Amino acid sequence: MSTSFTDKQKLDNDVNEVAPLESVNPQSAGGIGSWFLRDMWYFALPSSALKKGKMVPKTMLNEPILLGRDQAGKAFAMRDICPHQAVPLSDGVFDGKEIMCCFHGWRFDTSGTCTAIPSLVDEQEFPVCKVKTKSYPVREVHGTIWVYFGDESESLLPVPEAPGLGESLYEHTTNNLSVPIHIDYAALALIDPAHVPYVHKSWWWRSAKALKAKQKHYVPSANGWTMVKHQPAKHSIIFKLFGQFIETEISFCLPGCRREYITFCGRTILSGISTLTPIDDTHTELNHTTYWMLPGTSFVTPVIRYFVNEFLGQDVDIAKKQATRLSYKPKLIPTIKDAGTPGAWYLLLKKEWHDSRKEKRSFANPVPDSILRWRS
Ligand code: FES
Ligand SMILES: [Fe+2]
Repeated sequence: MSTSFTDKQKLDNDVNEVAPLESVNPQSAGGIGSWFLRDMWYFALPSSALKKGKMVPKTMLNEPILLGRDQAGKAFAMRDICPHQAVPLSDGVFDGKEIMCCFHGWRFDTSGTCTAIPSLVDEQEFPVCKVKTKSYPVREVHGTIWVYFGDESESLLPVPEAPGLGESLYEHTTNNLSVPIHIDYAALALIDPAHVPYVHKSWWWRSAKALKAKQKHYVPSANGWTMVKHQPAKHSIIFKLFGQFIETEISFCLPGCRREYITFCGRTILSGISTLTPIDDTHTELNHTTYWMLPGTSFVTPVIRYFVNEFLGQDVDIAKKQATRLSYKPKLIPTIKDAGTPGAWYLLLKKEWHDSRKEKRSFANPVPDSILRWRS
């Protein structure tokens, strides 16, 4: 069925109510799918993937990054390009203190500062310590490693930790998936309730039964929002088994972190954080770290990994289909109310974060206290 002009105009008006139309047009400068947020922490690796004295190369936000862990156990990150002749430093040798480039043997400490140029003879003066490759701030929190991209002259944001952990003892594991689309599209999918009944069909989660009307309360929080604590939908076998004493709280914050924790009789039993890290313009990494508060039960890790991979793998399958058409740069409608409203908020938050940094003013969260309704 074709869309009449009037319908089209109404559609544009509906879209405009929640986000300026140009912000959803991939062809416009600064539009969806074309840039990355700066002045943000991005998930890099689970701590377990970076052993003492080892280096791991990785592309993040289109930049080659070398992640490493020194002899003392401290994680670091630097630009993975030797400033001499551009060989990857990660192809060199790391002794736990310094990295030796594999081309001419220049040595660099973990802050990226050159400490030795072996070809120099005694009387050849050269300010070796002025040779540097950029280093990046790194934080390690709850078994995850984060790298900061942006202006380091101002105080840095806190890392978006998984919520509800406090002093709890817990087990954890991180699932890593590769999504072949720009972070904006991956973020829209991460917070979109309308795809759930169509994409996430598993015997243990939900069947494709009739859609149910939902109503959720959202409040602004930090640089995102929180869907206030509520009892989870009873469609899944897992929640049916656990009964009525369960509550869940879900929040989202920039640059692409969906955080959820589940309480049983008021005590956190499960917490999870899904994070999106741009690799380049058309690839994003999705890392999901699950924490569960039953120390000594690491034997269930393979089961948790199986369920998370199954669930998020369904999102990756859709993203692969999307990628085949996004390359044509079609104009999109991610802001249909109310299921698309979180997507519209994501675009507004991203724009406001960028504008507030550029204009050197404080960030004003554009998310209103809202009740959203949809069928899923
Ligand atoms: S390229 Fe690294 S030492 Fe020359
Ligand atoms: Fe999904």
